[in-house]
Amino acid sequence: MVTKCVCSDVLFSDMKKTADKFGLKSINELKEYIEVGENCQFCHPYIELMLKTGETEFEPVIE
Ligand code: FES
Repeated sequence: MVTKCVCSDVLFSDMKKTADKFGLKSINELKEYIEVGENCQFCHPYIELMLKTGETEFEPVIE
C-alpha cells in the first residue's frame, strides 16, 4: 500500500491531521504547513485523493 510521501517520509495520515486541523483543500495549502511532495511528486495524486476522500492508504497505480 502507498501510505506516505516517500521523499519527505511523511504519512498521508499525518498530512490528513494537519489538513483537517486547518481546513486545507489542496497540496499547495498543505505545503505551507508541512514539507511534502517537493521532490519526485509521485505522491501528488495520492495526496489529492487523501484530501478529497479522507483515505490515507492507497493501492499502487502501477503494480
Ligand atoms: S514521494 Fe512525495 S515527493 Fe516523492
